[in-house]
Amino acid sequence: MEMITLALAKGRTADDSIKLLEKAGVYFDDLSHKSRKLVFYDNTHQVKLIFVKAVDVPTYVENGAADIGIAGKDNIMEAQADIYEILDLKLGQCKFAVAGFSHEQQTNGNVLTVASKYPVVAKTHFRKKNIPVETIKLNGSVELAPIIGLADVIVDIVETGNTIKENGLTILEELDSVSTRLIVNKASFTTKSESVHAFINTLQTGLE
Ligand code: PRP
Ligand code: MG
Repeated sequence: MEMITLALAKGRTADDSIKLLEKAGVYFDDLSHKSRKLVFYDNTHQVKLIFVKAVDVPTYVENGAADIGIAGKDNIMEAQADIYEILDLKLGQCKFAVAGFSHEQQTNGNVLTVASKYPVVAKTHFRKKNIPVETIKLNGSVELAPIIGLADVIVDIVETGNTIKENGLTILEELDSVSTRLIVNKASFTTKSESVHAFINTLQTGLE
């Protein structure tokens, strides 16, 4: 079988993804926490693992740089990548929310400003509600934006709700649920059909 390339997000969900792979019988021998290496091979040399930034996983898969990816639904939605979403791996479960001060959305006639790491998701949400918004793209610490006066509200993912709470914000609206998904490059799905399907089946058994 042909070797497949698997793109995995560095960071929060990496450990759980690796655990899931191991449960399914896919082992990466030289993988260690201390290592700064970004490429690994499983011990049967059927899977080449590459570690990329979480937001970039859909890009690698869409462009075929990786055949398969394990990506958060948040990043998949934001990237609007043309890929197949195959399995819900149920890791990193959280949800999108609009948050701000409870008395917000009085913008004194001005357009509502929304700060987010997910401007596409934010725009799509408010467009559906026919609310005109201006989005401000941030790369982190989004909860600061309403506090500092950079934006009226934020669209972000909420897991425990602690970040929202500790910064004196309130969830104003709950949006889509988010979890980790297995995504596949459309061409690889056909051209590497055997390897790709074998991998999907393996992972599915790990999920059971
Ligand atoms: C994420 C997210 C929220 C927080 C949600 O931020 O953007 O801020 O976690 O988790 P909670 O509901 O359990 O508090 P992250 O820690 O990844 O940092 P960043 O936003 O600065 O990138
Ligand atoms: Mg955050």
